[in-house]
Amino acid sequence: MSLLSISDLSITYRTAHGEMEAVSGIELEVNPGEMTAIVGESGSGKSTSAMAAIGLLPDNASIVSGTITFDGHDVTHFSQKQWRTLRGRRIGLIPQDPNNSLNPLKTIGASVEEGMAIHRQDDKESRKKRALELLERVGIDDPQRRYHQYPHELSGGMKQRVLIAAAVALEPELIIADEPTSALDVTVQKIILDLLDEMREELTMGILFITHDLAVAGDRANNIVVMEKGAVRESGVAARVLTDPQHAYSKRLLADAPSLTAPTSSQTASPVWNSTPAQQETLLEVEGLTQRFGDFTAVGDINFSVA
Ligand SMILES: Nc1ncnc2c1ncn2[C@@H]1O[C@H](COP(=O)(O)OP(=O)(O)O)[C@@H](O)[C@H]1O
Ligand SMILES: [Mg+2]
Repeated sequence: MSLLSISDLSITYRTAHGEMEAVSGIELEVNPGEMTAIVGESGSGKSTSAMAAIGLLPDNASIVSGTITFDGHDVTHFSQKQWRTLRGRRIGLIPQDPNNSLNPLKTIGASVEEGMAIHRQDDKESRKKRALELLERVGIDDPQRRYHQYPHELSGGMKQRVLIAAAVALEPELIIADEPTSALDVTVQKIILDLLDEMREELTMGILFITHDLAVAGDRANNIVVMEKGAVRESGVAARVLTDPQHAYSKRLLADAPSLTAPTSSQTASPVWNSTPAQQETLLEVEGLTQRFGDFTAVGDINFSVA
């Protein structure tokens, strides 16, 4: 049985220009321990579909038809009170922009413990112990120190790790991740995706993963759902969608995904380090730069120049 099943879902938004249909006839499934990726360009209805599955649609949205089933229960018309029993505890959310998603006035420790404080009866000490374990688990260096820090003292990648720790704190069965790495650079993106993969396996979590990047979806997902203009154009096992796309839109997405296309000969012919610099004059020179924050060395003895 699937963990999450969305069937024939249509959602409209009330706007100043009247009712606007955002998604129509959406079908998708997430199985336990598997990842389903929704892929599509901006405005195609990915977030609307995903937020419906965690009861976080904006107030001006209405579900006009269809059903959302979580673990065999119809949650389509759940009240906010009903959603609060599931959200955080059985369904977790990893938001898009780590830089705007942590409360700036709360310590990292308090943010990770928030769900535990709401949903579990355990005492302060055991929450702290669990939070430190989670911070360690998601690869935060020196959890004891980070626990007492505030979001502005962490990099974007570290903040996203903290948000993952908060989302998995209660070992939810389903995680909704709405473009969780689009605000991060590619190397950090890979680390975060690896971490999500590990957590999925360890906790047999299902993940509904939203991305505009077909290459990322192809690398990580078991199933891919391709959306365009509020409708599902194609869906199926990731390998099949990538190697044998049926719909014209999926074919175009595939052709446009840079990391899925082989480099052309002009890109590989002459390594860039062999080319003659256009200009020898140094415009910017940094020598032996060290920056410390308190007793923490952020950069140590950095040298570089820009011609
Ligand atoms: N709160 C809202 N009010 C009105 N229209 C919205 C709202 N949120 C999204 N939309 C519209 O719904 C459509 C789908 O948006 P969205 O689900 O955010 O797409 P995506 O996540 O794929 O970028 C878009 O046309 C968008 O403008
Ligand atoms: Mg979106």
